[in-house]
Amino acid sequence: TQPEPCNIVIFGAGGDLSKRKLLPALARMQRWNLIAPESRIIGILREGTWNLDTWKAYVRQSLEEFRSDNVNDEESWGHISQMLELTIGDLGEAEMYQRLRQTLKSANGKTNVLFYLAIPPDWYEATVSNLHAEGLLDESDGFRRIVIEKPFGNDLNSARELNRRIGEYAGESQIYRIDHYLGKEGVQNLMVFRFANTVFEPLWNRNYIDHVQISVSESLGVEYRAGYYEKAGALVDMIQSHLIQVMTLVAMESPISLEGNAVRDEKVKILKSVRPIPVERVNEFAVRAQYAGGTRDGKRILAYRDEEGVDPSSTIDTFAAVKLYIDNWRWQDVPFLLRTGKRLPERVSEITIRFKQPPKNLFSVTQQHLPQNELIFRLHPEEGMIYLLNAKLPGLNDKLRELALDAPYAVSGADSPEAYETLLHDVLLGQSALFSRADEVEESWRIVAPIMEAWKERRGLHFYEANTWDIPGMEELMEDCVGCWRDLS
Ligand code: BG6
Repeated sequence: TQPEPCNIVIFGAGGDLSKRKLLPALARMQRWNLIAPESRIIGILREGTWNLDTWKAYVRQSLEEFRSDNVNDEESWGHISQMLELTIGDLGEAEMYQRLRQTLKSANGKTNVLFYLAIPPDWYEATVSNLHAEGLLDESDGFRRIVIEKPFGNDLNSARELNRRIGEYAGESQIYRIDHYLGKEGVQNLMVFRFANTVFEPLWNRNYIDHVQISVSESLGVEYRAGYYEKAGALVDMIQSHLIQVMTLVAMESPISLEGNAVRDEKVKILKSVRPIPVERVNEFAVRAQYAGGTRDGKRILAYRDEEGVDPSSTIDTFAAVKLYIDNWRWQDVPFLLRTGKRLPERVSEITIRFKQPPKNLFSVTQQHLPQNELIFRLHPEEGMIYLLNAKLPGLNDKLRELALDAPYAVSGADSPEAYETLLHDVLLGQSALFSRADEVEESWRIVAPIMEAWKERRGLHFYEANTWDIPGMEELMEDCVGCWRDLS
């Protein structure tokens, strides 16, 4: 569907997110006619080197470097180039918002505006307040939507406060809190898989499912983001947002429709049912570790503490694993294990549903231990689904083997959208199901709050060698189940 024409205003247009993700996503959307040609992309840029020519050159370079389909011909550039405009000034300067008002023009009689806040979180509230003061959030002549990046707050209280303050200037239906994991095809496929098929949903509960694992491993380290990461760590950076969001989609009941609030109501019910972890027992439910030095392809990898901008005695988690329980009829006592880490050997993201053992092992003579059936949703490297079953080993024997029904997600010839394309398109259409509502964000902070509290203490931090899978302390999270973590290698 092609949305109505819109002024897409990017705050932080000269920043990293804009260069790597937003501009390439907008260019690809233009190619697929997912942006009306009368739309404009307005960069908010600081006084100094920027003018329309430098802004255009910047966008062009960003597309050449980061556009995933590499379609960078003159024709396609021409379409994007004629959409580009800019407004110069600082976020805190009232005149900048007046100038922005001049730049915003109506297209086809309506002035729709999407404000994308790709700026440091400290500026969210002031920017929204300034937009409001200048009357730029008034929806009488078109929609006004605000996209806010994570981190949304840095703990439960700050998130509540930010929601309250932003809520003074903009209605909840105008606010789109982005979590790019929800824009991934494989994550959206979870909902389709569960609710467009009859086969698995009857098994999707505590009677058949032993536990769920949600894993995201990354091979990169902290890169150039030590300033942010030193305050966040893996728990806050990944689990509080992306992994908990994915968990809600695995666990939620069928919504009454796909409308934004219908979906989010069900997700919030799951979040509210997550059993609180007592601060004094956090070590039974959560493990943290930090990468020490290591080697990769013969080259040395620095320890986290030796990275630029990191405190040499930092206790920040670069790996975190948590075990959560959802106290409702469907999931009582089924562990949801969430883990993520940096500087692991490979970049892998997957969701594993591990089913229970059959009630009796008829094959115990040849197969003492029957591997449990598993359903795996792979998000990375290739998106796909794998169903692991037990089958007979062919031949005159009575041995079993594990059979993998492996279905890649991609359809040949189809060009899957990037997460940011899906999400920007949804904002333009006013579809909010894939964005976090205020109460969702607050509930996720509530879930991780006791862990954050306990981890303020220096004790209990493990170290792992960079580029290895061996994380001390991780096995203990799975009682009675040594070796139960799915091997990601
Ligand atoms: C971001 C985190 O939100 O997600 C990063 O801040 C992380 O630290 C990234 O690397 C992972 O996203 P993806 O899509 O590469 O799995």
